[in-house]
Amino acid sequence: MLLRILGTAAGGGLPQWNCACPGCAGARRAPARRRLHDGLAVHGQEPSSWFLANATPDIAEQLESHPGLRPDAGDTRTPVVRVVLTDAELDHTLGLLRLREASRIEVWATEPVRRALVSRLHLANVLAPYTDLTWHDLPLAGDGPPADIAGVAVGAVPLSAKRPRYAVDEPAHPAWSVALSLHDAHTGGSALYAPALAAWSDAFDKEIARADCVLLDGTFLDDDEPRRTGISERTASGMGHLPIEGPDGTARRLHRSAPTRCYYTHLNNTNPLVDPDDPAHGRLARLGLRVAAERMVISL
Ligand code: MLT
Ligand code: MN
Ligand code: ZN
Repeated sequence: MLLRILGTAAGGGLPQWNCACPGCAGARRAPARRRLHDGLAVHGQEPSSWFLANATPDIAEQLESHPGLRPDAGDTRTPVVRVVLTDAELDHTLGLLRLREASRIEVWATEPVRRALVSRLHLANVLAPYTDLTWHDLPLAGDGPPADIAGVAVGAVPLSAKRPRYAVDEPAHPAWSVALSLHDAHTGGSALYAPALAAWSDAFDKEIARADCVLLDGTFLDDDEPRRTGISERTASGMGHLPIEGPDGTARRLHRSAPTRCYYTHLNNTNPLVDPDDPAHGRLARLGLRVAAERMVISL
């Protein structure tokens, strides 16, 4: 299985269009620091067969810039696109609207995520005149067999009842936000993708220990970052993102669980780690942890 990292930024991207914070200004000065919204393309054994984990507002550019994800000269159009969703957040779902040129969009989502997209964002109604939108249940890990998508076994690990802001009044459900567990039976390789980790549960700990590679929520470096930078009155954990460092930070836990490869993704533009010279990179490296790079390809 191949994981292609299509982007590594949280909502807004880097730089964010309306922001001149040090991270955004730095990315305008040094284009190599730019980050697109976080998402993956996953290939199984057959290189021409792939699916997306999340569909970001940048999806068309992300697909276009990766040979292997865009049609070759002489090919017909890409007829079907497959998308697995970790949640119903706008940064992970707005790309579905940009994929409307496909003849068919197949979407795997948990029940509350599908409900929010259909009844709050009206995605099914809006897309119906453009494309055939087909829904599949995303199976919860341990709750029946995983879905076979492009030869990869895909399951969802419930993470939290964190609802998007446009759906905060929807009922709580443990699978509003999930991690994707990806397993290739041919190679035995496995990965866990969790771009929004609100709490570190025992079930999550077990999944981490089993995975060869983890792509984890790196939105904020420390819990006070959103308040200090003025983007929110809440802490990082209050916003549904465990910070990387500090007493409840994920770095120490990841270091203890020690999967072979750990990368942080979904970086907010306030996160000091968007500066490649920030000393926090050295602290993470000493724990065997890194920030995911744009366009990185991971073979498992
Ligand atoms: C999140 O990751 O918490 C959301 O995507 C925030 C947002 O709506 O931009
Ligand atoms: Mn987000
Ligand atoms: Zn900014």
